[in-house]
Amino acid sequence: MKIEDLEKEILKYCIIRSPDEIKENISEIIGLEIQKKILQNIIVAAKNFSKLEKAGLNSNLSALLYGFPGVGKTLLTRAICRKKNTILIEIQPSTIFESHFGETLKNINSLFTHIGEYANLRFKEGKPTVLFIDEFDSLARERADPTEIGEMKRAVNELLRGIDSLMYGVHPLVIIAATNHESTLDSAAWRRFLYHIHFPLPDFKERFDILKYFSKKLENIEPNIVLDLDFNVITKQLEGFSPSDIERLVRSIYIEYLSSPTRDKFIIDNEKAVSTILYIGGTQKHMELSNLDKQSEKVIQDQETKSLSISDLLKQEIEKTKKGKR
Ligand SMILES: Nc1ncnc2c1ncn2[C@@H]1O[C@H](COP(=O)(O)OP(=O)(O)OP(=O)(O)O)[C@@H](O)[C@H]1O
Ligand SMILES: [Mg+2]
Repeated sequence: MKIEDLEKEILKYCIIRSPDEIKENISEIIGLEIQKKILQNIIVAAKNFSKLEKAGLNSNLSALLYGFPGVGKTLLTRAICRKKNTILIEIQPSTIFESHFGETLKNINSLFTHIGEYANLRFKEGKPTVLFIDEFDSLARERADPTEIGEMKRAVNELLRGIDSLMYGVHPLVIIAATNHESTLDSAAWRRFLYHIHFPLPDFKERFDILKYFSKKLENIEPNIVLDLDFNVITKQLEGFSPSDIERLVRSIYIEYLSSPTRDKFIIDNEKAVSTILYIGGTQKHMELSNLDKQSEKVIQDQETKSLSISDLLKQEIEKTKKGKR
């Protein structure tokens, strides 16, 4: 197949970005030094694909990125592809499940054959390909869910088989998957990936730098906004916040500025910033809340089970008493 035809097929389920179409820039990413290094190394290995092949080494160049939402998994993947001049194919399993049923499901396995062929052709032009599978957990979840209809399960298995064949096939291709529900993945899913890369929440210094970075951006956009802040104090308040939460904080200040009647200086002091933080809410807190929800669901379930067994016991006692009286 010609490269244009392969592209047409792949575009049915994926987005393809060439390096110059990627907006994300590595210079805008704060921290994540080890994560940057490992991803770059894998891509360099893909560029040296012929050497791997000659050495007879396994060509599975893959990484599973995991961590809370908003910590830079997608951002870093895209930025690295731009920096390292690779083609980026983004596939989102949920979009396949939502919109492609019936006949189209059968085409899923040919998608992976097309991606392999496409990667080979692009490599001949000097560019390795990165396949990015976001929401990877949705594959594992759909497969495990017993209520799921058969067709969907078959589609998920087809996708997993396709990923497998690409990982162990001989293609100059890097596979990066991302999840923020890592606890739902079984070890069969983990072991497929060469690297498991954790993306933590930012530490104090990183939060400080991220806050500074977005603040400067805001002041450049709108010189009327004056951030009269003690950055150490605010950074302390941002413990458990993701970079994305910090960006939301700064964005919400801009939104407030837009609806304020004055177009003179708009001063944000510590007190104002701290009260805004309360309305932003940090990722760690969100995760704790959702875990609490899960725990209380479990407590209710346990209580239901317990109360059932108590009533069963009572019934047994009544039966015993009746028998004794006879
Ligand atoms: N290390 C970072 N430095 C600067 N900004 C960051 C960083 N990490 C995340 N951001 C900001 O947070 C936004 C969201 O990040 P991203 O989409 O990469 O999160 P994610 O980890 O992929 O989340 P999800 O699991 O929800 O997909 C970015 O667009 C960027 O504005
Ligand atoms: Mg993401």
